[in-house]
Amino acid sequence: MRDELSFQSAWEQTVTGDRSFYRSSAGDPYLHFTTDVVQGQEVTDRVEALVVDVVRKAPGIVTVLDVGSGRGALLSSLAVRLEASGLLDRAHLIGVDLRDRPADLDSSVDWITADARALASEMPSLTGVIVAHEFLDDIPCDCVEVDPDGAARIVTVDAVSRQSSLGPPVSDPADLAWLARWWPARRPFMRLEIGRPRDDTWSGLTSMLSFGTAIAIDYGHLRVERASGFWDGGTVTGYLDGRTVSPATDGTCNITAHVAMDAVAAAAARARTTELTRWSAAPRGADFLSLVQTFA
Ligand SMILES: C[S@@+](CC[C@H](N)C(=O)[O-])C[C@H]1O[C@@H](n2cnc3c(N)ncnc32)[C@H](O)[C@@H]1O
Repeated sequence: MRDELSFQSAWEQTVTGDRSFYRSSAGDPYLHFTTDVVQGQEVTDRVEALVVDVVRKAPGIVTVLDVGSGRGALLSSLAVRLEASGLLDRAHLIGVDLRDRPADLDSSVDWITADARALASEMPSLTGVIVAHEFLDDIPCDCVEVDPDGAARIVTVDAVSRQSSLGPPVSDPADLAWLARWWPARRPFMRLEIGRPRDDTWSGLTSMLSFGTAIAIDYGHLRVERASGFWDGGTVTGYLDGRTVSPATDGTCNITAHVAMDAVAAAAARARTTELTRWSAAPRGADFLSLVQTFA
């Protein structure tokens, strides 16, 4: 009998499971992407400004948590800058990633090898800045296709052959509510992703901030664009060696899907302020959005 996995489960196997792309020797993020933080100084500039702002407003140590830190390049650059401005003593820089601590990471940076989705239940609350650059798009979620009768059906994957097909209609009430609010199924054959796992991830991460700022920069879209039909083909993509490839869920490539950034923003119910803008500094004209939220 065929063993069919939901697309999210099949994708999860390529992140934290025995088919993990990032934990494999080929999974060094900087070998596969052309939009990471080392492509320019703009992300470091923005994060440095947020850190300086929190340092000025809050007494004591300010924690900077970079989730999905890759090779830790952002934190290494930040350490050099904070040292130069005499603020490094006030900052505790921590990278979090599924991958092991990079050998060339600045010695002032701490490292946690872990699934960042579990951090909130394991770490004490903190004053500081949480950074998620090209992280949320890596959080597995379900992919849906609308059938000729207008029913939104989950894409499934054969556990062995990794071939995908159209599975049962979406039935989880929380998923149905998410679709109704953020990305309604409007016409047959449109594809879309249920962004709820990204909302949960952001809500969990930001729940750790007793005071400070969280910034997410990622491939993203907004409800008005989704409603226009612009994203009707869905956004699941594979990356390998700097190129887009077919998003095979067999661990041979990185899989991503754009982030419904307005849904993510709304999930952080405690946010005092929210700034959601296009990230115009994105390399190669990538569809990046920037979400900055403050917490107190
Ligand atoms: C596209 S890379 C981005 C790296 C870096 N933030 C940058 O922009 O250059 C995504 C990183 O997130 C990590 N990652 C993916 N899912 C994760 C998870 N659930 N927990 C921790 N790290 C994760 C990967 O190992 C990878 O290093």
